[in-house]
Amino acid sequence: RTILFLNGPNLNLLGVREPDKYGSTTLREVEETVAKTLSAHGLTARFVQSNHEGVLVDAIHAARTECGAIVINPAAFTHTSVALRDAIAAAALPTIELHITNVHKREEFRHHSYISAVADAVIVGAGTHGYILAALHVAHLLLG
Ligand code: DQA
Repeated sequence: RTILFLNGPNLNLLGVREPDKYGSTTLREVEETVAKTLSAHGLTARFVQSNHEGVLVDAIHAARTECGAIVINPAAFTHTSVALRDAIAAAALPTIELHITNVHKREEFRHHSYISAVADAVIVGAGTHGYILAALHVAHLLLG
C-alpha cells in the first residue's frame, strides 16, 4: 500500500530555512529515510510538497482512492486552511498531522490548527525524526 507524505509551503527549503528551528536535514534526506522505514514494512511512499494550497487539496483527493493513509505537515496552512481540513475529512483515511517544531512553544498564532480535529494523531516537536515516527505509526495502524 501507498502512504501519502504531504508537505506544505516553504518545506522545500527544509535544511536551509531557519536551521535553528527546523534542523539541517533536507526534505530529500527525510524522504529517503521515510521510504526505507516504510519499505521495511512492505509499504511505499508518495511524496508531494507544494507551496500552493490547491495542489495540496488535489493530492489529498487523489490519495482518497490511491493511498492507505496520509501524513501531512500543512506548514503555515495549518493555521489558515479550512480547505485542507475539508479535503482530509472527505478522504476519510487514517491521517497524521505533523510539525517539526513544537508549535505550542512558539507564537500564539501557531497554537491553533484547523487540521488537528480531522487528524487521528498529531506529532509535534520531534524535529524531522517526527516523519519517521509518523511512518512507524502508519505501519502500526495499517498492519497492527
Ligand atoms: C511547521 C510549523 C508551522 O507553524 C510553520 O508555519 C511551518 C512549519 C512545523 O513543521 O513546525 O512552516 O508546520
